[in-house]
Amino acid sequence: MYSKRTLQHFRSPHNYGEIKNADGVGEAGNIVCGDVMSLYLKMKKIGNKEPIIDQVKFKTYGCAAAIATSSAITDLVKGKTIEEALKISKNDIIEFLEGLPPIKIHCSILAIDALDEAIYQYLTDQKKPILTDLQVKHNRIKKGREQIEERYKKWMTKK
Ligand code: FES
Repeated sequence: MYSKRTLQHFRSPHNYGEIKNADGVGEAGNIVCGDVMSLYLKMKKIGNKEPIIDQVKFKTYGCAAAIATSSAITDLVKGKTIEEALKISKNDIIEFLEGLPPIKIHCSILAIDALDEAIYQYLTDQKKPILTDLQVKHNRIKKGREQIEERYKKWMTKK
């Protein structure tokens, strides 16, 4: 059973869409179900402070929990620095949504993966150092995405 808050985010997702000229774009897929998500970040620098996430949008092709968790992560990252955004966990998303059915907890990983990928791309473009942990996650997410693409390719060419 979904919480009231999860249903609200599913029915009226926050920050749905795309950002043209985004500073970071992350794409991730859930290897179990094949659902996919894209997340777009626009950064803003004020004075000498660390840049913050000024705008964030997403596009998700997935289940109700995937849409709700995507919407939730956009609310959670807004105004955060990269360092703060990287600390957001699936438990933060679940808490924000006031719970998820146990069978749907894996769906929240899609949102975290897309965020990590958007940050990875942003840091790479900015020629900033990539922490080992983020590099390991990027390699895993990239591999998963390739497996999903391969699966769809086979499905599309099936007669
Ligand atoms: S079933 Fe695919 S992300 Fe939820």
